[in-house]
Amino acid sequence: MDREKITLSGTQETMLATLYGRALDSRSPHSVLGDRTAQEAVERVAYDFGKTGMTETTAVGIALRAKQLDDWAAAFLAENPKANVLHLACGLDTRVHRLAPSPSVRWLDVDYPDVIDLRRQLLPQPDGSYQMIASSVTEEGWLRDVPDDRPTVAIFEGLTMYLREEEAKRLIQRITERFPSGQLLFDVYGSLGIRLQKMVPAVRNAGATLHWGLDDPHEVEAWHNGLALLDAVRSVDMPGMDAMPTSGRIGMKVMAHLPGFKDVGRILRYRF
Ligand SMILES: C[S@@+](CC[C@H](N)C(=O)[O-])C[C@H]1O[C@@H](n2cnc3c(N)ncnc32)[C@H](O)[C@@H]1O
Repeated sequence: MDREKITLSGTQETMLATLYGRALDSRSPHSVLGDRTAQEAVERVAYDFGKTGMTETTAVGIALRAKQLDDWAAAFLAENPKANVLHLACGLDTRVHRLAPSPSVRWLDVDYPDVIDLRRQLLPQPDGSYQMIASSVTEEGWLRDVPDDRPTVAIFEGLTMYLREEEAKRLIQRITERFPSGQLLFDVYGSLGIRLQKMVPAVRNAGATLHWGLDDPHEVEAWHNGLALLDAVRSVDMPGMDAMPTSGRIGMKVMAHLPGFKDVGRILRYRF
């Protein structure tokens, strides 16, 4: 079978790193996510995954971040069986396969057109009320077409750091103004993470640039009346760190005690 050639660069290319992280995790006997579909997708592309700089430790980190967001999304869907899911900057993430939502859930996977093209070729089409949307999330059009009749959870993993603060603010305001209620589940870099971006091989080697860093998650609450922070989990202190190799676990423990470094990244849950 011919493998798909990759012509992506910059921000779009970075989704191959997170895909590879989940694939590496799936190969472990103690896999966090058990995402075999990610491994199958990796086997179908012609790409030098060494470029991502992914290690056993960072792969577990990617899987734990995804797991935290999966768990929050699953809890939201358990409480709101008839909901919209806006999965923004989906890349080649198989979240819809992992969560396997009921047919009463309307699920949208949104990313740039070249990423969605690749997604169509590489990933199986899930059942249910599922749609892929080929658009920048900062474009106004795609959201106007989403029915505003139900609670909505927006999940955006590995996106905010590629946006400028004004773009992130506008996106969050458009979502919170449109739907009657819901949650926002996303990760952020802190300002130190943004300053150290060249140390992240997946970002550096793809030629991507990070912009927005957030040090105080409460700042976002002021962007919409009724927007409230429910949870903030530090990336250096995520549940399930035991799955990391010992050296990685020790590194995380050290970082968790260093001012600045402990806030290098967070996973956030808000309600509105
Ligand atoms: C680090 S990857 C994360 C992909 C996926 N969420 C995951 O965890 O595997 C960054 C993703 O953000 C997408 N992205 C960045 N800016 C975007 C924008 N303005 N609109 C849509 N997608 C965007 C890229 O195309 C890429 O798929």
